[in-house]
Amino acid sequence: MTHSDDADFPARLSADEAALLQAMPQLQGVGQARRSFMIHSAAGSVGLFAADLLAQEAALAQMPLPHGAAVAPTNAQNVVKVAFQVNGTAQTLELDSRVVLLDALREHLALTGSKKGCDQGQCGACTVLVDGQRVLSCLTLAATLEGREVTTIEGLAQGEQLHPVQAAFIKHDGFQCGYCTPGQICSAIGVLDEAQRGHVSHVTGDVRKTTTRLTDEEIKERMSGNICRCGAYPGMVAAVQDVHSGRQAAQTWGYATQTQIASDRKEDGRATI
Ligand code: FES
Ligand code: FES
Repeated sequence: MTHSDDADFPARLSADEAALLQAMPQLQGVGQARRSFMIHSAAGSVGLFAADLLAQEAALAQMPLPHGAAVAPTNAQNVVKVAFQVNGTAQTLELDSRVVLLDALREHLALTGSKKGCDQGQCGACTVLVDGQRVLSCLTLAATLEGREVTTIEGLAQGEQLHPVQAAFIKHDGFQCGYCTPGQICSAIGVLDEAQRGHVSHVTGDVRKTTTRLTDEEIKERMSGNICRCGAYPGMVAAVQDVHSGRQAAQTWGYATQTQIASDRKEDGRATI
């Protein structure tokens, strides 16, 4: 039940609360718990705080949401406008200055491929590419991306044609649950580019010698910021190595055929499909 359904509600208000409600009829439109909190807060001499919240709420209500937005912003402060490219499409968002790229992608652009694992830079599930370089989107303020180019897992394939790293992950069975996979793939693309540019790593034998070759040890080290709770690491390393070396190792697994499934079920004494 809301206060507007409750005929006795005004009678239960203190004089201060009633005065505030009369001065701020907007409170009638706010949820009961929130309204009670604000009224009592105001009665406790924090009325300016309540008024400030209402002003923010009004500003938010006027903010247009982009087409397909998944979740409306709830309490924006210091709203900033950011114009950037996401997967080749120009986007302009009005965001709370504290919003990180991961939340901008997931909650304002409905691009939920990038995953929130730890939300504090520990797991790599949120990895995306900014101007071709891998970044942790949970630690990147969206407001810093004016004019930049963001690529997420959704932007890698060309129509039905998977990105070579995506195809290699499938070929080498480089995932199980798949939760870490978008971050792993974006990170792998970043690793391959870093290798091309001769970046060294912690396990590079001699950092004075630039090499573009990635050993499996190098791949493991460079991908170590991307955690996989399923332990699908061997397949990931093989996938990255496959694309890096171009050696096109053979796929070692395949889907069972209908004949194999029927045969197995027959042996088990179950009905065939
Ligand atoms: S969600 Fe960003 S590093 Fe874990
Ligand atoms: S595939 Fe499950 S967490 Fe990596």
